[in-house]
Amino acid sequence: MTLSFQPIMWKNHRLYLLDQRLLPKEEIFIEVSDLKGCVQAIKDMIVRGAPCIGFSAIYGMALWVSAQDKISLDSCHLACQEMISARPTAVNLSYEVSRCFQLMKEFIESGKKNAEIYAALVEFGDSQIKFSQEKNFRMAEIGFNELLKKIGNKKWNLMTHCNTGFLACGSIGTALGVISHAHSMGHVSHVYADETRPYLQGSRLTAFELSKENIPYSIVVEGAASYLMSSGKVDAIFVGADRIAANGDTANKIGTSTLAIVAKHFKVPFYVVAPINSFDTSITDGSQIEIEMRPMSEITELKGIGLAPAGAQTLNPSFDVTDHRMITGIICEKGLIDPSIEGQLLRIVNS
Ligand code: MRU
Repeated sequence: MTLSFQPIMWKNHRLYLLDQRLLPKEEIFIEVSDLKGCVQAIKDMIVRGAPCIGFSAIYGMALWVSAQDKISLDSCHLACQEMISARPTAVNLSYEVSRCFQLMKEFIESGKKNAEIYAALVEFGDSQIKFSQEKNFRMAEIGFNELLKKIGNKKWNLMTHCNTGFLACGSIGTALGVISHAHSMGHVSHVYADETRPYLQGSRLTAFELSKENIPYSIVVEGAASYLMSSGKVDAIFVGADRIAANGDTANKIGTSTLAIVAKHFKVPFYVVAPINSFDTSITDGSQIEIEMRPMSEITELKGIGLAPAGAQTLNPSFDVTDHRMITGIICEKGLIDPSIEGQLLRIVNS
């Protein structure tokens, strides 16, 4: 997608984040100048989407280094912990921060100055964004070829949940990357974008991206899934991932698991699209994934307008885990994984 801005920009030693809370109405950037500001921006979902959270965290660590007179392994460890605590479910955050820690450790042990560590972290952030763009294109091609094989050479009706495009990934995207690529190849008839209650990543962000690309779409409420699939309106579903366990169980935005179960019932192919750094093969299955609980106000209010009786209680899990048996395929930059084939995920991820 061509936009006049990137959701994450590094300029003049500062991090600038597009405030995604204000989209689609306003396109405003927030300046982040230190570790605490970066942690808060991730918590408040100014920046969101597993890959973009990870990239922002790298620059946040660079900002932390630039503010230190002296750093030690202990202080690095504490700063990394603070960053990782911002949001628990997406593994990309801890993945990127652990790599920052490794880099800082090697530099400290070889007697490098803070300025050199800072420069190396900024370079690391830049390269991760660039590298992820290549991976996104690769996954888009794999997903497109799989659809050609599975559904055939026609125009497809596709469905997606949450936001997995440019705003979440800083490039073409994961699930939305496949859709966008398929559209550029002339193969998309229509896209159904779940509104994605309660934060509305679908109606605010995915719809924003689909309109920018002139892809025909309709926003639907999550409850429309069964209606759409039973009436044959969906050929395949693509979603992203925040953490994929070794057996293929996948944590993604709340509502994903329900969608996958309905898709299985109606025999609609259901694909997860995610880069290798969204996999957590240290856990055997999805029961070990921590699910982030978000504030009640995300359910009871919309832009300050009350939607529920005063004092209403809510439960607001931000993610759920889709059982790998509901997933037709997991697409990563190394290929297509069939989660029903035991051990295939580990073989491909570790290849
Ligand atoms: O809570 P968010 O908006 O940060 O949600 C994360 C996501 O965007 C999704 O769950 C997504 O499918 C994975 S990120 C490409």
